[in-house]
Amino acid sequence: MTQQQTGFSFEVYDSITELNDADAQLLIKAKEALKHAYAPYSHFNVGATAILQNGVFVNGTNQENASYPVGICAERVLLSSASSQFPGVAIETIAISYYNENGISNKPASPCGICRQTLAEYEERQHQPIRLILGGLEGKVYIISKAAELLPLGFSSSDLK
Ligand code: THU
Repeated sequence: MTQQQTGFSFEVYDSITELNDADAQLLIKAKEALKHAYAPYSHFNVGATAILQNGVFVNGTNQENASYPVGICAERVLLSSASSQFPGVAIETIAISYYNENGISNKPASPCGICRQTLAEYEERQHQPIRLILGGLEGKVYIISKAAELLPLGFSSSDLK
C-alpha cells in the first residue's frame, strides 16, 4: 500500500482592488452579468464572464426552472455559449460572482461538481488552461490557474480508451 496526496495552490487576494486591471475588469463584468440570472427558486444569482483568446467577452448566468433539476448553472451556460458562438476559440479566463438574496455575498463561491467536470472537458478540448477568478460582491478573491485543479482524480476522455 502507498499513500498518495493531492492538492493545489491558488492565489488569495483580500479584495478586488488587489487584482490587476484586466482581472478586476473581468470580475466586474461577472458581477454585472449576474443581474441577468434567473433564480426565482434559489434566490442565488450567479454570473460568469469569460475572456476569449480573440478578446471577446462571453457571459453566462444561472437559469432555473419550476422543474428544479432542469435549471443550469452560469458556468455551463457560458461554456456552451462560448463554444457555440466562437467555436475553436480558446477561453483564457472566467470570472464568477454571485449575489445571494438570502444571505451574504462576501466570499468566493466555487463551481459545483457538474460544472467542474464540464470545465475540465472544455479545458482538455482547448489544450490550454482556463484560469478562474472567484469572488462575491465583496471580500476575498481567489484565482485558480487551471480549472481541472478543482477536480482531482477526475474522469476524462482518456478513461474511455
Ligand atoms: N449555481 C451556479 O450557477 N453555479 C455554481 O457553480 C453553483 C450553483 C446555481 C445553480 C442554482 O441555480 C443556484 O446557483 C443555487 O444552487
